[in-house]
Amino acid sequence: MNPASPHDVPEVPQHPGWTPIAEEAERAARVLHPEENQLPRPTKRRILTVANQKGGVGKTTSTVNLAAGLAIHGLKTLVIDLDPQGNASTALNVEHRSGTPSVYEVLLGETTLAEAAAVSEQSPNLLCVPATIDLAGAEIELVSMASRESRLKEALSDDALDELGVDYVFVDCPPSLGLLTVNAMVAAREVLIPIQCEYYALEGLGQLLSNIELVQAHLNPELSVSTIVLTMYDGRTKLADQVTNEVRNHFGEVVLKTVIPRSVKVSEAPGYGQTVLAYDPGSRGAMSYLDAAREIAERGARGGTTEKGAGA
Ligand SMILES: Nc1ncnc2c1ncn2[C@@H]1O[C@H](COP(=O)(O)OP(=O)(O)OP(=O)(O)O)[C@@H](O)[C@H]1O
Ligand SMILES: [Mg+2]
Repeated sequence: MNPASPHDVPEVPQHPGWTPIAEEAERAARVLHPEENQLPRPTKRRILTVANQKGGVGKTTSTVNLAAGLAIHGLKTLVIDLDPQGNASTALNVEHRSGTPSVYEVLLGETTLAEAAAVSEQSPNLLCVPATIDLAGAEIELVSMASRESRLKEALSDDALDELGVDYVFVDCPPSLGLLTVNAMVAAREVLIPIQCEYYALEGLGQLLSNIELVQAHLNPELSVSTIVLTMYDGRTKLADQVTNEVRNHFGEVVLKTVIPRSVKVSEAPGYGQTVLAYDPGSRGAMSYLDAAREIAERGARGGTTEKGAGA
């Protein structure tokens, strides 16, 4: 892809007087020398479900890049790919051919979490339970199973997560509100909603929030929308600012201060089985995901003090 595509957002200088190359080198150094920028551990292990039934809003991109940002900077992080498309597994370059121990076998109780978790080459701190195409049938197969909504929760027991020693778990959901997403919402305490800075972005959000409320009321009273991340921001359009303002007015502190810009580097990275942090550590996309990961880690170290109810 051409890096000068019209969809790429121009770099905003952070250090007046520096050349663009110096800026890029400084950003790359921050990503590549994580020992100087270790992130604080959460007061308690955090499980975040990354959900939005709208397709293509940046769920997977946010999951893998936030997870990589936390992992590279010292926090052991597990990504659960709960989407039969297997995009998170692809982006983390984790084997996910049919027959590979995956989240499907974990949901069926045939495999333990530790058996299905593969270490990503992005960081020894980054684990991924992949999704194979077998997961496509799970939505239907689960219907007739006992405790069909809490299969993932059972798999993500304290003991299983202690065995892996993880601080953070991100569950990447498919673009639907079916049983897989319900399993993710029952297993987590927090929902992270990526919102694309585009016209239809807020459409369907009401439905997502009412589903979260239903899960809260009947299956998981601890669930709340703790984090909203604005993605694919294009500063050249008024619309992007309108969406940003509207989301901030409505959700307040829950929205991360860092906004993820639309950037060709971000979209190219999965094609190389890499996160943008590995693919182009000096890019604005890498830096913004790292900044967003830092915000998440700092909230976690304060005990997630900005958490708000889903209906807020
Ligand atoms: N910041 C960004 N800049 C440019 N492209 C992006 C950005 N974030 C995501 N994309 C691209 O947009 C597309 C959709 O992103 P992604 O797959 O993360 O969305 P999703 O919500 O997981 O989609 P689905 O609903 O299909 O699971 C992908 O091609 C991705 O590379
Ligand atoms: Mg996805």
